[in-house]
Amino acid sequence: MKQEFQGNLLSPLPLALLGTLIDGRPNYCVIGYISPFNFGNHIFFSLYKKRYTRHGIQENRTFSVNIPSEDLLDEINICGSKSGRDFDKSTLFDTFYGELKTAPLIRQCPFNMECRVTDILDYGPNDGIIGRVVKSYADAELVKDDVIDMKKARLIVWTIAGDFSYYRLGERITPEEHAKG
Ligand SMILES: Cc1cc2nc3c(=O)[nH]c(=O)nc-3n(C[C@H](O)[C@H](O)[C@H](O)COP(=O)(O)O)c2cc1C
Repeated sequence: MKQEFQGNLLSPLPLALLGTLIDGRPNYCVIGYISPFNFGNHIFFSLYKKRYTRHGIQENRTFSVNIPSEDLLDEINICGSKSGRDFDKSTLFDTFYGELKTAPLIRQCPFNMECRVTDILDYGPNDGIIGRVVKSYADAELVKDDVIDMKKARLIVWTIAGDFSYYRLGERITPEEHAKG
């Protein structure tokens, strides 16, 4: 049996700490409505127009996407609830810069990407921001023979559909292992 459910059920989603540079200071904001597309060459995310982050996007047309591990839950809570307008989030992390000098990256996050804005779509109260991935970085201790050890990265996912919680990324599965039980 199926029950009709109000709203979008595309869940779980990755969770990102989105970095922008505003008036020369890094600002980090939690973004859950985010996705790679165009075979991963671009990233799309939804940004409420009132976010302080929007200033950084407009100022530089660059941003960073930082994928946190569960060790950063306290910082995630701050970046997802306090606005850079009235709280300095730049000191929560060690910031580094890559090729783009206006996309602050978080050293404590296992994965980072720096992006250049290619399109901004106007969707009423939200902007749809599209950026081209210019360069990606991963913690060296997670990489072996060009493969990232996802389990070691201790990633979290975010659920919607009324649950609105963070979960640990679970066990790796293959059809063969699943068949064995
Ligand atoms: C789990 C979670 C997901 C979020 N996803 C988004 C999102 O996709 N788009 C958005 O504009 N804000 C999102 N937010 C809200 C912002 O992170 C929050 O309002 C933040 O304080 C904005 O910071 P800023 O004003 O410094 O830009 C999310 C917050 C949480 C906790």
